[in-house]
Amino acid sequence: MRTGTQPGGRLSIECFGMAPILTLWLAVCLSGALAVERANFKTCDQSAFCKRQRALNPGESPYRALLETMELTNSRLTLQLKNDKNKVRLLLELYRLQGNITRVKINELKPLKPRYEVPDVLIREPPTEPLSLLSQDENGVVLSLGAESQRVIVSALPFRLDIMEGRDVLLSLNSRGLLAFEHLRIRKDTFSYLITGTLASVWNNVKSVFSRQADRETEEANLEDEAMLDEKDEEGMWDETFKSFTDTKPNGPTAVGLDFSLPGVEHVYGIPEHADSLRLKTTDNGDPYRLYNLDVFQYELDNPMALYGSVPVMLAHNAQRTTGMFWLNAAETWVDISSNTAGKGSSETPQTDVRWFSESGIIDVFIMLGPTPKDVFSQYASLTGTQAFPPLAALAYHQCRWNYNDQEDVQSVDAGFDEHDIPYDFIWLDIEHTDGKRYFTWDTNKFPTPKEMLQGLMDKKRKMVTIVDPHIKVDSSYKIHNEIKSQGFYTKNKDGGDYEGWCWPGSAGYPDFTREDMRAWWASMFAYDQYEGTMENLYTWNDMNEPSIFNGPEITMHKDSKHGEWEHRDLHNLYGFYVQKATAEGLIQRSGGVERPFVLARAFFAGSQRYGAVWTGDNAAEWSHLKISIPMCLSMGLVGIAFCGADVGGFFKSPSSELLVRWYQTGAYQPFFRAHAHMDTTRREPWLFGPENTALIREVVRQRYSLLPYWYQQFYHTYHTGHPVMRPLWVEYPQDPATYTLEDEFLIGRDLLVHPVTEEGATGVTAYLPGKEEVWFDIHTFQKHNGGQNLYIPVTMSSIPVFQRGGSIIPRKLRVRRSSSCMEHDPYTLYVALSHQRAAEGELYIDDGHTFNFEKREFIHRRLSFANNNLSSVNLAPAAHFSTLSTIERIVMVGATRPTKATLKTADGQMSQLEFDFDASMSVLTLRKPGMNAGTDWTVMLQ
Ligand code: GLC
Repeated sequence: MRTGTQPGGRLSIECFGMAPILTLWLAVCLSGALAVERANFKTCDQSAFCKRQRALNPGESPYRALLETMELTNSRLTLQLKNDKNKVRLLLELYRLQGNITRVKINELKPLKPRYEVPDVLIREPPTEPLSLLSQDENGVVLSLGAESQRVIVSALPFRLDIMEGRDVLLSLNSRGLLAFEHLRIRKDTFSYLITGTLASVWNNVKSVFSRQADRETEEANLEDEAMLDEKDEEGMWDETFKSFTDTKPNGPTAVGLDFSLPGVEHVYGIPEHADSLRLKTTDNGDPYRLYNLDVFQYELDNPMALYGSVPVMLAHNAQRTTGMFWLNAAETWVDISSNTAGKGSSETPQTDVRWFSESGIIDVFIMLGPTPKDVFSQYASLTGTQAFPPLAALAYHQCRWNYNDQEDVQSVDAGFDEHDIPYDFIWLDIEHTDGKRYFTWDTNKFPTPKEMLQGLMDKKRKMVTIVDPHIKVDSSYKIHNEIKSQGFYTKNKDGGDYEGWCWPGSAGYPDFTREDMRAWWASMFAYDQYEGTMENLYTWNDMNEPSIFNGPEITMHKDSKHGEWEHRDLHNLYGFYVQKATAEGLIQRSGGVERPFVLARAFFAGSQRYGAVWTGDNAAEWSHLKISIPMCLSMGLVGIAFCGADVGGFFKSPSSELLVRWYQTGAYQPFFRAHAHMDTTRREPWLFGPENTALIREVVRQRYSLLPYWYQQFYHTYHTGHPVMRPLWVEYPQDPATYTLEDEFLIGRDLLVHPVTEEGATGVTAYLPGKEEVWFDIHTFQKHNGGQNLYIPVTMSSIPVFQRGGSIIPRKLRVRRSSSCMEHDPYTLYVALSHQRAAEGELYIDDGHTFNFEKREFIHRRLSFANNNLSSVNLAPAAHFSTLSTIERIVMVGATRPTKATLKTADGQMSQLEFDFDASMSVLTLRKPGMNAGTDWTVMLQ
């Protein structure tokens, strides 16, 4: 096997190829120090609109609601808001949506031209419910929101909205008066401004000749014109320079901002992606959290800087209620959080104040009123859809590295797994597999016969992923480039030419993925006859889709570049979403709509969950990075992106063997489980760290494989409900404040609690076991622990503290083979963990593991339950049809008592006695070889 690294690659390009950032990055590269280059990224102060918005202080809002303009149809309220300072009018729309969601939209009443409204993220126009007027006077109106005595109060002067339940305010908008909507305007010193201004006043005067009504209108219009004239241009409104980049702003200032107050709330979560704690921090003493998809080289932990993806969704939680806010805006966005809970013990009701502002677009906010965390997940899923149901194999283990060098290398790594008896499903090829970073091609010297290679993997029921990045090498001998160019599919620069930036291939164009026709063409490139050398066991990785542009402002695209009529500014955070969408559609199409795709992307937005998985980007082989993988993936799960993982082992630098083992142990219990490493690191396949560590890694990868039936079932569930798979404890124990800030442990589904060891040299961990009524069983020793306590668990290098909730049934497959597909027909072992009441419930979900046929009801879904000494399997989906060869080969009951007899009754009424063992010291009953088909009705009766 080859162990060397290759020259070239990112560090080299960054160190030697880019003049503007050369000196700083050279310093980083040469010193080997890991630190983000902060100077490459804007602080709020360096972002003109952020600075303007943040400079506004809470106080009386200049906006009044013009109640006389109110119109209420069945499901829609509209009214105008007027800014008393600049006289500009806005249009407020308020909708009650099905499922306890309120939508508030604010746009200019008469914008000079349309403002961007985010398309394609909502899965449909959300269905509405009737709104009714409860009362109205000169101070405001009160509307009924239908459910549970919920009302919305619209106050006129100053304008504010309060959403109430009974006497409680759940959430207020503009209560701090920070609604700030920069209207489109014509630049004052321009010819068109003068012409427009003159024409307007001539027209106003002509109208006034005709009527008194027109007189009044004229007066008002003149006042508006004057007020607008009074508005001062500030620096950064019409252009802005950051480092050597000047952002021209032909539309001038267009930012929008609004404040939200959450009485009674002390804990807010969400708005990924940040390398920060699960519970969001207040931002009073620093920058706001930033949402702007960026390739942040060597990102730093515990700070609110932007990262690769953005989901503008925040959850607010207290013991009574969970609410959510979805700020549907794809422009650069910042979020400020402050709270009055700092002084504990004060008699004041705690309150959290949140303020969102975006550089352009409109205000379009969905307020999801819960009341439970799971209600909020379902509400959000009803808007943006749920996690794509992945092929089962995608939940297994992925072996990646930048790069597996050639076919021989692939073959030897593949053989290494067999030799060391470690299962894996996917081997990944990074950018070096291509012909000079021309995606959809192969380096024919290193990969002369890709189909043979893929066939070799297929013979072992294994798969491959190749990287297909969205930057396209500008090269007239490259078919993909030529087609994109000739069809006019590239994103344009501000002057109308094809936008060019610098990325892995050198000079590159960036396809305009916002265009449907472009996406359709891109999707067609994944057809087996287009992407030569591919077969059905090849899947895709979209990296750098922020988009990453090494010589662009903040390492991304110029905001004044153009997607048709829109500026990149308007939709930046959506670019990566579209790349993954187009790719996933390509994989579906190449199979004639039969096979489920698997696409990993680095950049994402709200709704990206519909297209595949994400990972936390370029982390480092440091303990702190291992730890932060937990809150980072938990935050994503809270906002719909369930399929999340971090590079196991850390991308930059080389992990110690202890860190590597601990990372495998953690990653094996996170949704997306992939080892990955930078090309400059030494090789780290699992068997390169001595037999003891190989054994430890083997053990945990095998644990992952044995639990795949449970993982798969969890993903099936999230596909239907939007509930996260990897969950913070408060999602299941919403009334227990002890869970609100936990981020070193988590749940998988409801029933497995994981507290990975993430401290160097740890000899023990303290896990919080939630639920005073619960019991928890150590899945390795079956030791029983009561819930509602902090439990100290001594650990050795082989320990991974994982507990099964008493009252649950978890299916596993214990005959681990070389890939998940090899285990398809294997029998199940059911782990029945009894509650205090000696009961348990679980499910078993089975389908073919890779097609969309489950949508045609080709699956088995069974409820397993234990009560009154009977364990039975009943059909949860009688209309579904699928058959399995898998049987139930063993039932392990923990927390059990010794029976005298165990009788199996099968679907045909046959009765048979089962052999069993009982371990009295651990109260574990093992029923041997019951052997019934996993898809049938059966009952085991204990006497
Ligand atoms: C980016 C990715 C990393 C990948 C590298 C080369 O840094 O985040 O995972 O290995 O590019 O493609």
